[in-house]
Parts: sequence; C-alpha cells; structure tokens
Amino acid sequence: MTSTNTHSKTLVLLALLGLVAGACAAMHRIPVRRSEKFVRTRQSIIAEREHIWRKYNPVQSSLSTNSSSSSTTASNYSIESLENLMNFQYFGSISIGTPPQTFMVQFDTGSANLWIPSVNCLSLDCFNHRQYFSGDSTTYQANGTAFSITYGSGSVSGILSTDVVTVAGLQIVGQTFGEATAETGTSMGDATFDGIFGMGYSSLAVDGVQPPFYNLLNQSLVDAPVFSFYLETNGTQAVSYGGELILGGSDASLYVGNLVYAPVSSQTYWQFQMDAVTMGSNTLCSNCLAVADTGSSLLIAPYDIYLMILSYISQEVSCAAIPSLPTLTFTISGVPFQIPPREYILQEDNDCSLGIDYIEGSDFWILGDTFIGRYYTEFDLGNNRLGFAPVNSASALAAPIFQLAALCGLWKLLNLL
Ligand SMILES: *[C@@H]1O[C@H](CO)[C@@H](O)[C@H](O)[C@H]1NC(C)=O
Ligand SMILES: *[C@@H]1O[C@H](CO)[C@@H](O)[C@H](O)[C@H]1NC(C)=O
Ligand SMILES: *[C@@H]1O[C@H](CO)[C@@H](O)[C@H](O)[C@H]1NC(C)=O
Ligand SMILES: *[C@@H]1O[C@H](CO)[C@@H](O)[C@H](O)[C@H]1NC(C)=O
Ligand SMILES: *[C@@H]1O[C@H](CO)[C@@H](O)[C@H](O)[C@H]1NC(C)=O
Repeated sequence: MTSTNTHSKTLVLLALLGLVAGACAAMHRIPVRRSEKFVRTRQSIIAEREHIWRKYNPVQSSLSTNSSSSSTTASNYSIESLENLMNFQYFGSISIGTPPQTFMVQFDTGSANLWIPSVNCLSLDCFNHRQYFSGDSTTYQANGTAFSITYGSGSVSGILSTDVVTVAGLQIVGQTFGEATAETGTSMGDATFDGIFGMGYSSLAVDGVQPPFYNLLNQSLVDAPVFSFYLETNGTQAVSYGGELILGGSDASLYVGNLVYAPVSSQTYWQFQMDAVTMGSNTLCSNCLAVADTGSSLLIAPYDIYLMILSYISQEVSCAAIPSLPTLTFTISGVPFQIPPREYILQEDNDCSLGIDYIEGSDFWILGDTFIGRYYTEFDLGNNRLGFAPVNSASALAAPIFQLAALCGLWKLLNLL
C-alpha cells in the first residue's frame, strides 16, 4: 500500500519534472507588472487617446477632436491634461549594461524601438525615471547616431548606443537602443515605466535599428520566433503581478482550446484582417483591419465606425444599463471573439462611460489591453500571423505561474550541477 503510494508519487513527480523541463526549455517568461496606482479617469482616457493618436499619426501635428461629451477637455491638450497619460497598466523589467542597470519598460507591440532615458537627459520627464549611464557599463559601445521618435507635438530624442540588454534572463549582446537625452511633450514624467521596448516589425523601427526580439532570434537565445502575452485583467488589488510576456512560445495552460490564427496583412504594426465586427445584431464592418497593440489599453475604432457605435450606445451610459447593452463581437478567421459590455464600458464609482474610442484618420481598429486581457495573444514572427484564444481564468492566478518560474529556476540549476 505504502509502496504503491510512494511509487505513484514518484511517477507524478517525474511527470511534473518532465512538464517543467518541457516548459522551461522552450519558453522564457517575464512577469508583466501592473501599475498599482492605475486608476482610469475621464482625463486619463482622453490623454491615452491622445497618446495613441500621436503614436499612429506621427507626422500630423495639429490636433482636432470633438467627440460629443469630452469636448471641453479635449479641445486643448496641455501637458497637464496628459498627466495620467502613461499611467498604463502593464510593464516589466529589463536591464542594460554590465553591471546591469535596471529599467521598467512597456512591452509595446505598436512600435519597434527600445529606448530608455539617458543620464544626460535634462528634460523634466526624465527626472522621475531611471537613467542609463554608459560610463558605468563595461560592455557599452558608442554609436552616436541621432534618433528621434515623434509623437505629434512631442518627441523623444537622443543618440543611439549599444550594450548588452537582458530580458527574461536572456542576454542580448550588442543591442542598439535609443538613449533619450530629451523628452518633450510626451508626458513620460508621470509614467510608471522608464522607457519603451518595441515589439513591432523591424520596418517600423526608427534609424533601421534591429529590434531586440530580432536579436534574440539572431543570437539563438529563443527557440522559436514567437512571443505571446497573457495579461491579467481582474481587479485592481495591490498586487504588482499583471500577467506575463513569454518569449519563444506560448503556454497552452494559460488559454482555453486552440489558438485561432490570422495572417499578418502588413508587416509594420501587428496588423491583420478580421471577418467582421458586430455589436449585438448590428454589423459595424466587414473585412475590417485591426492592429494588436499591447501598448494601448483601450479599444479604438475607425471614426466612422465609432459614430455608428455612438448611435447604439451613448458616451455616457447608466451603469445600471450595462447588462442590457449589446455584446461586441470580433470575428477572426471565422471564430467569434466577444467582449461583453461590462468590459467595454468603463466604471469609476458610479460613473460609467464607453471604453471604445477613436483616433482620426485611422482606418483600422486597435485592439488594446481590453482585448488582449481577455484573449491570450500570440505574435508569431516566423509565420507572420497572430493567434488568439480565450484566457484560461482557472489557471490565471499569479501564484502557480510564479511557482512554475521558481521550478524553472530549479530545473536550470539542476542542469548546471
Ligand atoms: C468637429 O466639429 C466641426 C464643427 O464644430 C464639424 O464640422 C466636424 O465635422 C467635427 N469633426 C469631427 C471629427 O467630429
Ligand atoms: C491651450 O492652453 C494653453 C495654456 O493654457 C494656451 O496658452 C493656449 O492658447 C491654448 N490653446 C488653445 C487652442 O486653446
Ligand atoms: C549605429 O546603429 C545603426 C543602427 O543599428 C547602424 O546602422 C549604424 O551603422 C551604427 N553606427 C555606428 C557608428 O556604429
Ligand atoms: C545574425 O545577423 C547577422 C548580421 O545581420 C548575420 O550575419 C547572421 O547570419 C545572423 N545569425 C543568425 C543566427 O540569424
Ligand atoms: C475577479 O475577481 C473577483 C473577486 O476577486 C472574482 O469573484 C471573479 O471571479 C474574478 N473574475 C475572473 C474572470 O477571474
């Protein structure tokens, strides 16, 4: 009896070890953190829309917005009105240099450069953040080429530098990145993170710099040309765990069923074509374009579609009406991906408002964290496709993932011995 028990325990242990070994060999996990002070306000939504607008319309400089209810604040984007701008939910840690200098970065699939503030940055927006000091790094290599990323009226500029960049314990040798010596009008001052880690296609990269994920592949640090995001969406408890970014694969325990794939339609943003978007029984568009952007928290619709949505649901809604509102459905490769009203309506205290916005001049949807938080998203660079599946909320708990991370550490240690 006892020996059978022990025997089966051993078998279970071996099976577990096998699983851990399998999981650890292929994938590298970065815990994604969630901002503890993240509070979504009307002001932050306007500010975020402005940020996204700047990101996708970098060449236009005049701003015009007159959405029905927010026109008073939206008519003049002062720096103050953007103070919550970068208070997004999700970011994680990387290090640069030898010895390592640590930075918090937003893993942004909507851009393709890595940049962090420089110790030489005198802009106010750099002050609250960690700053890179090349003089402290023995692996620093000068480059000196000027770089500038324009965000409408704001910009981040400085010089390119090259150094070792460590992400999820993987050391990228000779990664070139932007060392920002000026940040103006970007309102990064208040951001919970220091810089941006772009994960878009290299064609988007300023100065033709090879994005870090490409170098991870090039240096054979990940097995597969794939990364994926699992974002924790529930609650605003003071836990900093916010999900994870997995480099080199997808973790099937974090989603339900199979990933549904859509080919990338333009290798710039992670852009793809959806079959349709419907709201209840109304079709909003057919064969519509979308971009999967972890650096945006909202859902953004093309302006004409946004107006259609407003004809069904006003900007201001009564919180009590939420259960009777229609479900938003994105049909991708024949499969419906639903966003229920409680997720596309933003609630703060007893105020409810539409969490769908628009940016002028775009003809594509932007599926931000509202979508990615509900649907595990795989970015498959090797096959130029995106995969989506509902997150597995049963396993969507911080503790098991951190335990797995610990087991991976143990496994690696055992391998070294
Ligand atoms: C903004 O308002 C002006 C008039 O106040 C109107 O002509 C224009 O169509 C509006 N534009 C948008 C994008 O709402
Ligand atoms: C925006 O606000 C600034 C500062 O308050 C002011 O100087 C400027 O004239 C305003 N611009 C517009 C278009 O209202
Ligand atoms: C600086 O980096 C850019 C982008 O990677 C590269 O094209 C250029 O050759 C580098 N210049 C120097 C001087 O290393
Ligand atoms: C990495 O990039 C270099 C230069 O672009 C290239 O010569 C090399 O073959 C690449 N290595 C791999 C493993 O892709
Ligand atoms: C979110 O958290 C609440 C309270 O902790 C829990 O009741 C609910 O089931 C959670 N929802 C999901 C989708 O995990």
